[in-house]
Amino acid sequence: MGGHNAFLPFHTPDIGEEEIQSVVETLRSGWLTTGSKVKQLEENFAAYTGAPYAVAVNSGTAALHLALEAIAIKPGDEVIVPTMTFTATAEVVLYLNARPVLVDCEPDTLNIDPAQIESKITSKTRAIIPVHMGGHPCNMERILDLARAYNLRVIEDAAHALPAHYGNKMVGTIGDITCFSFYVTKTITTGEGGMATTANPEWSERMRMMSLHGISKDAWKRYSKDGSWYYEVLSPGYKYNLTDIAAAIGIEQLKKCERFREARRRIAETYDKSFAEVPEITTPVIQDDVRHAWHLYIIQLNLERLGIDRNAFITALNEAGIGTSVHFIPLHLHPYYRRVFGYQPKDFPNASDAFARIISLPIFPTMGRMDVQRVISAVKEIALRNRAG
Ligand SMILES: Cc1ncc(COP(=O)(O)O)c(C=O)c1O
Repeated sequence: MGGHNAFLPFHTPDIGEEEIQSVVETLRSGWLTTGSKVKQLEENFAAYTGAPYAVAVNSGTAALHLALEAIAIKPGDEVIVPTMTFTATAEVVLYLNARPVLVDCEPDTLNIDPAQIESKITSKTRAIIPVHMGGHPCNMERILDLARAYNLRVIEDAAHALPAHYGNKMVGTIGDITCFSFYVTKTITTGEGGMATTANPEWSERMRMMSLHGISKDAWKRYSKDGSWYYEVLSPGYKYNLTDIAAAIGIEQLKKCERFREARRRIAETYDKSFAEVPEITTPVIQDDVRHAWHLYIIQLNLERLGIDRNAFITALNEAGIGTSVHFIPLHLHPYYRRVFGYQPKDFPNASDAFARIISLPIFPTMGRMDVQRVISAVKEIALRNRAG
């Protein structure tokens, strides 16, 4: 990446000649929208994760929406969602006129706190959407136990969690349906895109059909030699199909997924070692028996030891030429969720407290050793300069 003084962005996608060639080939093929490339990406993704079925769509949000529709979430149903997430996780519940019921996070992993789920379950609860924050899998054993006990479905928001493992299982093969995102900052990208995996053929078929207007099977073939002009609308669906142009990128990205993950893991390891000696900073935890995807590297500031707050810390990093982000502004602090559900900051103390401390540092495969060192030096220098007392 750029010279010593260039701004280091929070993220840059790793796009190689393979992706470029693949897109050019697709453009030249004359078939741009959903077709053989999408089918190939779905097959490769299913093989890679070990999931029996994979349905490609044009965003992670679309995957989540189709998953909830497939399990027949109805108006008035309740769906349990962490407050520490992106709005997509909860907005899809609202698309179906159901109610997202927020739950606080664990202070260390920032994942949904399983101990706080049970008290939120009512006779209307139908599903739980755990979000694997930053790529660290949630406590799926506890969540699946609760789901079994209360007959709930588990739809995993794995937007951050490719490739992650929980015990000996790959994320994508654990809950009822798992939803991935290929948004540009994610661990593999198609520009915009997503994937839903499941072991249930009916849900897979329903998601596939609803991703393309709810029209009968293989409707995307209707302009091809093997297709037919005739189709039937079986349900009022959505326009969520992925293009072959995007899938062409995804096929090449997926081949590099393990290499990308190893590059991010190494950066995380370097950060961990370097920040171990900085008392103003808490580094991310890794629980036993998980394989972290390292989509994000989230530090928490020990504000008690600092003379500045999180925002000032981010400003100082920006002045040092380093891009950062915050994952996330908890849902209960946003105007919409406050206004409609009446949430207060004190309702979710762990998430409210973490929000004041968190900063996501750059972690992406094209970062060079010097880039990583620049981030470390800047963080250390800012911490030292602003040490309290
Ligand atoms: C936790 C989480 N869920 C869902 C999404 C939505 O994915 P997409 O942008 O592909 O719709 C994102 C990010 O974009 C996310 O971070």
